[in-house]
Amino acid sequence: MKIVRVEDYDKMSRTAANIISAQVILKPTSVLGLATGSTPIGVYQQLIKWYEKGDLDFSQVTTINLDEYKGLSPEDAHSYKYYMRDAFHKHINIKPENIHLPNGLAEDPDAECRRYDDVIQNSGGVDTQLLGIGHNGHIGFNEPGSVFHRDTYVTDLTSRTLEANNRFFSKEDVQPVSAYTMGIKAIMQAKRIVVIVSGKSKAAILNTALNGPIDPQVPASILQIHNDVTLIADQDALSYL
Ligand code: F6R
Repeated sequence: MKIVRVEDYDKMSRTAANIISAQVILKPTSVLGLATGSTPIGVYQQLIKWYEKGDLDFSQVTTINLDEYKGLSPEDAHSYKYYMRDAFHKHINIKPENIHLPNGLAEDPDAECRRYDDVIQNSGGVDTQLLGIGHNGHIGFNEPGSVFHRDTYVTDLTSRTLEANNRFFSKEDVQPVSAYTMGIKAIMQAKRIVVIVSGKSKAAILNTALNGPIDPQVPASILQIHNDVTLIADQDALSYL
C-alpha cells in the first residue's frame, strides 16, 4: 500500500483528484468506482473545476457507485443518486446511461443485487475505485460482521453508521436503516483503489485497518491484501500510525 501523507483535507482532495484525472486522461473509457459521504466532496469539486477548464472529458467514462439507501427514490435529496447528481454528475459531460447506482426502490431486492453485479461485470470491471472509510471500518456499506460479503447485498446499517449519518437528516426525515452495497469482491477486483481519509475522528480506525489483523469486523482491513492501494490521508487521520 502506498501512503501519501498530506497536510489537510484540501490537499487530500487535490491529490486524489489528480489520480482520477490521470486515469480519465490515459483511458477515456475508464470505469470509475465512486463513493458518497463528506470525504469525497472536495475530490468531486476539483474534478469539476478541471472539467470546466477543458482539461477533462467524461463523455466515455462510466461511474459505478458503491451503495444506495434501500427505500429511497432517486429524487429523494438523501438518496445517493441525488447526492451524486448534485455533487458531480450534473456538472460534467457524463452520459446518463453510463451512471450506475443500485435502485433503492427496486421491488425485488435480490434481483436488484444480481442486476448490479451484472452491471459491474459487464462494465469490464472498475479501473479506479475511490473509497472512504466509516468510523467503524466499513467500506461502501460493508459493515463489521462475521464474514466478508462477496457480492452486492442488502445490509442493515449499524447503530454507529446510523448515528454518523444522521447529520444528513433532519428530525422530520425518516432515515433508512438498510442499504444496497457492492460486496467486498467487486471492491477488491478494482484494478486500483484510492482511499481518502481526513480528520482525527478516523485516526484510530485507520490505524486498526492498516495494522490490525484482516478481519471482517474491520472491513477496511481487507485492503491490506490488494496490490494497488493508494491511501491519501491528512496528518490528523494518520496521527495514530
Ligand atoms: C458511501 C460510502 C461510505 C463512506 C464512509 C465515510 O458511499 O462508501 O463507506 O465512504 O461512511 O463517510 P464520510 O466520508 O462521510 O466520513
